[in-house]
Amino acid sequence: MPENPHVSGEEPGLSRKQFITAVGVGALAVPAVVGATVATAGAATGAAPAVDEPLACTPGRTTVAQTEGPYFKPNSPERDDLTAGVSGTRLVLSGHVFNRACQPLSRVLLDFWQADTMGAYDNVRYTLRGHLYTDANGAYRLTTVVPGLYPGRTRHIHVKLQAPGRPQILTTQLYFPGEPRNNTDTIYDPSLLMNVRTVGSGREATFDFVLNVAGTGSPTPTPTATPTGGGGTWQAGTPYAAGAQVTYGGATYRCLQAHTAQAGWEPPNVPALWQRL
Ligand SMILES: [Fe+2]
Repeated sequence: MPENPHVSGEEPGLSRKQFITAVGVGALAVPAVVGATVATAGAATGAAPAVDEPLACTPGRTTVAQTEGPYFKPNSPERDDLTAGVSGTRLVLSGHVFNRACQPLSRVLLDFWQADTMGAYDNVRYTLRGHLYTDANGAYRLTTVVPGLYPGRTRHIHVKLQAPGRPQILTTQLYFPGEPRNNTDTIYDPSLLMNVRTVGSGREATFDFVLNVAGTGSPTPTPTATPTGGGGTWQAGTPYAAGAQVTYGGATYRCLQAHTAQAGWEPPNVPALWQRL
């Protein structure tokens, strides 16, 4: 089944001029954070980014949302290495997750899924699927393989992100520079290009996400919502604090990680979030 080419919630990419202007303004507003993020995108030297280069964190400019496609599966295992039993070119993807003020966000959930080197998704098990969390510095690191191509699409990696205590989920895709199909894939968006370089026989890629989460006014990331859920029946849309207890299907569970519940994350499905008591 081909992916729907409709792109929901998509914002137009920044032009080169807009990007340079935005970074300049941001550097005055929050110099420490922006200085760090610009460096990850290779723009700290002041050189104009090429058209095919990714954008840095720009205050107020959130990462573009894209279609989920037909191959998402909830309940992926928590792991930062998807390569067990998988052949292909090793790819290490790393970066940060920021709020709108380009401040790092810790404990953000990132759920990745992708095709294998032959362009096939594992829709039965969880090959090349997994979720992880940003660390105290808002950093994440995933080891995987370069995904293969399949009809109708350029090379890409799918991901969903959710900040702790936040109901919004960002669903998007990441792209590889220099791919011929980037020019013909109607879903492709150049603002979602990773920085990719060859290291030995593998690849290293970086990408920084910016979520639609307000800045805290402090460089130290802190949860901006107070999870209050718990004590009743599990319900999608409810923010749950670590330690909160719910009932579901006649069983009682304790929340292991603050998050906002969503369909597919029912307690029996996500042992990373809920422990049965
Ligand atoms: Fe896909």
